[in-house]
Amino acid sequence: MKGDLFWLSMLLLLFHKVGSCPGKCLCHPHTKTVDCSRQGLREVPSELPPRTQVLHLQNNQIGELPTSAFSRTPLLRVLDLSNNSLSTLAPGAFLGLGHLQVLNLTQNSLQSLESKVFQSLPQLQELDLSFNNIRELPRFGGETLSRLTRLAIQRNQLQKLHRAHLEALPSLRALFFKDNLWKCNCHLFGLKLWMESFVYKGGVTDGVICSAPDIWKGKDLLKIPYELYSVCLPLLGNGGPVQAQLSGFAYQDFPPPRQPQEQVDKSHSDCELKPKTRPVNLRHAIATVVITGVICGIVCLMMLAAAIYGCTYAAIMAKGHGEPLSQVNGPRKPREAKGSADTSLA
Ligand SMILES: *[C@@H]1O[C@H](CO)[C@@H](O)[C@H](O)[C@H]1NC(C)=O
Ligand SMILES: *[C@@H]1O[C@H](CO)[C@@H](O)[C@H](O)[C@H]1NC(C)=O
Repeated sequence: MKGDLFWLSMLLLLFHKVGSCPGKCLCHPHTKTVDCSRQGLREVPSELPPRTQVLHLQNNQIGELPTSAFSRTPLLRVLDLSNNSLSTLAPGAFLGLGHLQVLNLTQNSLQSLESKVFQSLPQLQELDLSFNNIRELPRFGGETLSRLTRLAIQRNQLQKLHRAHLEALPSLRALFFKDNLWKCNCHLFGLKLWMESFVYKGGVTDGVICSAPDIWKGKDLLKIPYELYSVCLPLLGNGGPVQAQLSGFAYQDFPPPRQPQEQVDKSHSDCELKPKTRPVNLRHAIATVVITGVICGIVCLMMLAAAIYGCTYAAIMAKGHGEPLSQVNGPRKPREAKGSADTSLA
């Protein structure tokens, strides 16, 4: 008991000496929480208690995070920067936050993300990037974000997403994608495949709702039939795995330097799902009709030949017995049938 009190007083001393509570914040030493929300702050307060684990900076006007902005609070577990004015994040902004588990960046003005920006966050489990203007999600390389279970990017401007970027996040369990500008052409085929296996394995998602092309507007990518993506397969089949081929889809916006012209054209024409399917189907249909017609014709001719042969044979037989033709074809047949039935019974 005495020991506990001693350490507690030491801790409080430390709080007051090393990092006192900034004027605009409320510090709760017991929960190691510092609340600086809704204070009109334009930057991160410089003097924060070093043992802070939960830091509320939401509803301010912070427009920039310098490199190592939080190096003085290395024990942070929760960092809420929602509803600020961040438009970019310096690659080293979160350096030193080896314990951070929740990072909330919703309702800012982020347009792009550096692939290394979250590299220093090995324990991150929840990342909220919703309500920004992000156009592209980078691939978070290496060991980064290997523990991320929940990723929210609703209400941004994503048009496409490479499946490899999601494959780099092995612990993902919940993924929120709604209200983006998803372009459901061949570029999203890889994402469709990935999402199917994600959902099959129990992953939770609010779906990829297409906003282009017009015929798929409002439709969930997972519900677009596979057949319509068959036009994407030649594009994928040109040697190399699916993802390598799909990585080429960046060329619509940023042509890479060494891409052969022929392939660029091909990807352009093959990437739209709607018009290409019809001529192929039509050709198939015509071919099927022609082949069916030919086969039917041959069968009909053979049947005709058999009928003529049969009639001729019957006529010859009838003449041989000196009976009129009508009697041969008429009442004789049933008797024969009956007779054979009798013998089989006996
Ligand atoms: C966002 O923060 C501003 C203050 O900077 C505040 O007036 C506004 O109500 C906040 N918005 C939300 C949705 O909390
Ligand atoms: C981020 O903050 C917003 C607004 O305060 C909240 O609705 C959301 O749940 C938070 N996200 C996470 C992952 O905590």
